[in-house]
Amino acid sequence: MTHRLTTSEADLARAATLLRDGGLVAIPTETVYGLAVRADDADAVTRLFVAKGRPADNPLIVHVADVDAVHAVAREVTPLAHDLLARFAPGPLTVVLPARSDLPRAVTGGLDTVAVRIPDHPVAHALLRLAGVPLAAPSANRSTRPSPTRAEHVLTDLDGRIDAVVDAGPTRIGIESTVVDARGTVPVVLREGGVTREEIAAALGHPDTAEHDAARRDDALAAAARSPGTRHPHYAPALPLHLAPTGGGAELARSIAEGGGRVGLVAVRASGDLAPIDAPTDARPDAPPGAGDVVVLGVPRDPAALAADLYGLLREAEAQGLDAVVIESVPEEGVGRAVMDRLRRAAESSSA
Ligand code: TXA
Ligand code: MG
Repeated sequence: MTHRLTTSEADLARAATLLRDGGLVAIPTETVYGLAVRADDADAVTRLFVAKGRPADNPLIVHVADVDAVHAVAREVTPLAHDLLARFAPGPLTVVLPARSDLPRAVTGGLDTVAVRIPDHPVAHALLRLAGVPLAAPSANRSTRPSPTRAEHVLTDLDGRIDAVVDAGPTRIGIESTVVDARGTVPVVLREGGVTREEIAAALGHPDTAEHDAARRDDALAAAARSPGTRHPHYAPALPLHLAPTGGGAELARSIAEGGGRVGLVAVRASGDLAPIDAPTDARPDAPPGAGDVVVLGVPRDPAALAADLYGLLREAEAQGLDAVVIESVPEEGVGRAVMDRLRRAAESSSA
């Protein structure tokens, strides 16, 4: 049975006790909800992999309360990691470092490195303090489902399979942390996320890390091979997902709907005129007979708002039983890179 907990002092104490006892507790972070378990308990970590249906070789991110606590799981904190954490912790940045040998191998999927982050959420922080141990926490979804950005999403996937969920409302950022290999002297981005390449480059006084990676493509490929999660299937939508050009979502959705069925549309407000999106297809005089409908799922005002709503909108499209969903592309800069990364993976694994 899965307890629904609030953020009251009593409920947080209960969540911390469950965690200390080796339980699986979904907790809010600023990115997405994580399914937390004490990182020093190999049996508990194994139960977590089973609950999520996650491949055993896909390692977990370990969450700690502050920079000092990184040493509890990492053998070495490189000068680069120090600089990154000084600028971005707490926050949506995960650093990959050499792992301490006493960290259970189940956490690192057998690798000799560990991914660590310091979440920027008062509830996550309180639970780390109360539990008093590092918490391994992957996103709290069933494997291949979108990451949960609300407690209800967690329950949709994991009700009855985990001990509790702490409901702190919707998460702020909506996509996962940026994972950076910080073992060397230059950062290698293994997964795009809440901290942008531009911010990393500005903080370190390096040129744009994207250009840097392009110049070292071989390194980047080797790095991708080192980040096992990028090999595994990601969110595979239960319905075809079409990526439309910026500003071209309404047109693509209408043309798909002309073949029949109900087509969801997510269009970014800044990218075009809203009026045509709001007009229902069946009101158009030229709509062919038997044409389907376009259902406007959401009109986020900018790429950051799209990031915040993205996973919820995808779950909504599935819940409404739509036949397809069209999402407009956003420029590949700032948080737009992470959004496009997630959308491409989802579109590739959909049947569209
Ligand atoms: O925002 C987030 O990062 C959320 C919240 C809950 O913190 N967590 C999250 O965890 O997204 P998960 O397990 O869904 O994704 C972790 C990613 C995977 O791509 C995994 O392969 C990678 O981090 N990763 C973990 N340990 C690694 C390591 N030692 N080396 C390289 N990549 C690693
Ligand atoms: Mg995940």
